[in-house]
Amino acid sequence: MDIVHSTKFILDSGDLSEYRKIKDLAEKNDAQLWGATTNPSLIAKAAGLTEKGKKFTQKEAFDFQKETILEIVKIVPGAVSAEVYADLTTKAEEMVKQGREIATWHQRVVVKLPTTLEGLKARTTLRKEKINTNNTLVFSQQQIFAICLHEHIMQKKYGPIDDLWPPFISPFVGRLDDIGEDGMDLVENGMKIKKLFSHTLPASPLAIWMLEASVRKVEHIRRGILAHTELITAPASALEQWFALTQDEKDQIDSTVYAKDLQKIPYWTPDDNLLKIDNEEDFYQAIEAQKIDITHPLTEKGIVRFVEDWKTILK
Ligand code: E4P
Repeated sequence: MDIVHSTKFILDSGDLSEYRKIKDLAEKNDAQLWGATTNPSLIAKAAGLTEKGKKFTQKEAFDFQKETILEIVKIVPGAVSAEVYADLTTKAEEMVKQGREIATWHQRVVVKLPTTLEGLKARTTLRKEKINTNNTLVFSQQQIFAICLHEHIMQKKYGPIDDLWPPFISPFVGRLDDIGEDGMDLVENGMKIKKLFSHTLPASPLAIWMLEASVRKVEHIRRGILAHTELITAPASALEQWFALTQDEKDQIDSTVYAKDLQKIPYWTPDDNLLKIDNEEDFYQAIEAQKIDITHPLTEKGIVRFVEDWKTILK
C-alpha cells in the first residue's frame, strides 16, 4: 500500500540519553526524530535519573524542567513541548503566567496546556499573544472539536499563529485502549473533525496539527500514519521497534488485530449551530452550557496523576 510519509516523529521522554539514542537510530534508518514531548511525570522521572534522591523546591523543579528542555532543543530540530504545572484548581491566569515564561525559553518550545475550561481560557490569552500551544490530555471528540473551533475563532479574528508550526492537539490513544476503548478511533475521527474546518476560512484552511500521543505499540504508529496524523509522539520502546522495521515490514503490520476486542468509538457529528459559532462569547457559552462537553474523566485523572508524579520530586 502506498503510504504518505509526512508524519513527523516525536520522542515522549525527559531522558536526554534516550533522545540521543533514538535520534541516532532514526538517522541510521533514513528517518528523523523531529521533536519532543515532556510532561510532569517524565520530568520527575528524569530528575530521579540525574539527581538521585534530591528534592526540589517548586522553583528548582521548574528550573530543572527548563534545563532539560534546553538540552533537548539541542538534540531535535523540531518542536519541544513543555507542560505548565496545573492541578484541578489551577486558574487560567496561573497557566498563562507559566506559559509566557515557558515560551521565552526557546523559539521551538511549545506550551502544553490541559484540555479543561481553565486550560482553554489560558489558550485564549496565549493565542492572542501568538504563543504556540499543545492541548494535552485529550480523550474525546468534543474536546477535539472545541480546540479546532477555538483555533478557528482565533485564526479568523487574529490571523494564523505566525509561528514555526501551527498549534497542536494531543489525543491520548493508549490510555483509552487501557479502559477498553479503541483509542485510535479518536485520532481517526479527530482528523475528520479537523477537516470540518478546512473550508470555513476564506484565505486559508484551519492551521492545527494532530499530535497522536500515549502511543504504546507500532500498530498505533502505523494507524496514525494511515490517518495522516501530522505528528506522533511515542516512548523510546515503540520508536525503537518502528525504526528497526523495513518499509515492507511496516506495510505488513496488521494494525487492526490488536483492537478487535476494543470498543469502537463512533464518529461524533457536531450540531450545525455549533459549527456556526464564530466568536469567543458564544464559544464559552456553548462550553458552559455543555453544548460542547469538554469534560472527560481521564482528563481529570491525568491531571491528578501528573501532579502526584511532580510531587515525588518536590520538597
Ligand atoms: C504526550 O504528550 C503525553 O505526555 C504522553 O504521550 C502520555 O503518554 P502515557 O499515556 O504513556 O503516559
